[in-house]
Amino acid sequence: MSGRAALVVCAGLKGGGGKTTLALGLFGAFAESGARVALIDADPAGTAAAWCARAAAGSAGRHRPLSGRSDLAAWVAALRAEGEAAEILLLDLPPRDPLPLVAAALLADLVLVPVAPSALELPGAEASLALVRRVRRERADGGPEILLVPNRVSEFHPEARGFEARLAPLGVPLAPVLRLRETHERAYAEGRTVAAMAPGSPAHRELSAIARAVRARLGAAADAAPGPEERATETSGAPVVRAGYLDRPPGAEGRLDLSGYRRRWWHRFLPRVAAHEPRRG
Ligand SMILES: Nc1ncnc2c1ncn2[C@@H]1O[C@H](COP(=O)(O)OP(=O)(O)O)[C@@H](O)[C@H]1O
Ligand SMILES: [Mg+2]
Repeated sequence: MSGRAALVVCAGLKGGGGKTTLALGLFGAFAESGARVALIDADPAGTAAAWCARAAAGSAGRHRPLSGRSDLAAWVAALRAEGEAAEILLLDLPPRDPLPLVAAALLADLVLVPVAPSALELPGAEASLALVRRVRRERADGGPEILLVPNRVSEFHPEARGFEARLAPLGVPLAPVLRLRETHERAYAEGRTVAAMAPGSPAHRELSAIARAVRARLGAAADAAPGPEERATETSGAPVVRAGYLDRPPGAEGRLDLSGYRRRWWHRFLPRVAAHEPRRG
């Protein structure tokens, strides 16, 4: 049991923000770059898993919704099992339900929140970010990293103008933009990745840019990870977990090579994840 995957979560409490589109697109982009990538679809609707079943890389996808608090330990075990053979584990979350978001944020290296340029979308993104920030306070390592992903951006959409400037006050780094492109829906309908169906297309290039930003963020997380002497210490009483959750292998030179990484810190966090309950407000 090595559990070396970096956990990258596509999250957002509002439906339709582009979580699944982003998860599938990144799945294709990472697979194309030769990374061992696996995808867990935690949405009961199962759209990402259904796509995986049709796609060539079907064996790298799993449908595993979280059915409630009593299911947490088994759910985390399923994530761990899926992370065994992967470098990057993508998790596609359902809308509305805060429990999977809290659990995932406790475990994640990086949370991606796609947000479309609509006044209807911003409050959902803000609520999602607030929840992830709340989870950060639970984590001694300050993680997870967060990236907002401006999605479905179209020059014809009046609200798209100045969209990125409007996202800036949220105080979260922005990923490169994913524009509104029919390529995404077409790839989904054909059970293919954008990378395979439309190489070199604008949608493909945008997804590749986001994949690079994800790798850069994972690298930043590795740099911020505590040194060896700080690892695996728990101060008495306080439920603090300090772990080297990303041990960047020497000489990796910016390449995402997780082969030398230690166990993910969240392996040691499991009992607390299973006991965690999201607080409202
Ligand atoms: N960048 C995009 N370009 C075109 N269509 C998109 C884009 N992002 C999302 N969509 C479409 O918007 C709808 C909702 O996206 P989806 O990824 O399913 O959101 P979520 O998983 O957050 O509910 C889908 O029909 C999807 O194909
Ligand atoms: Mg979805």
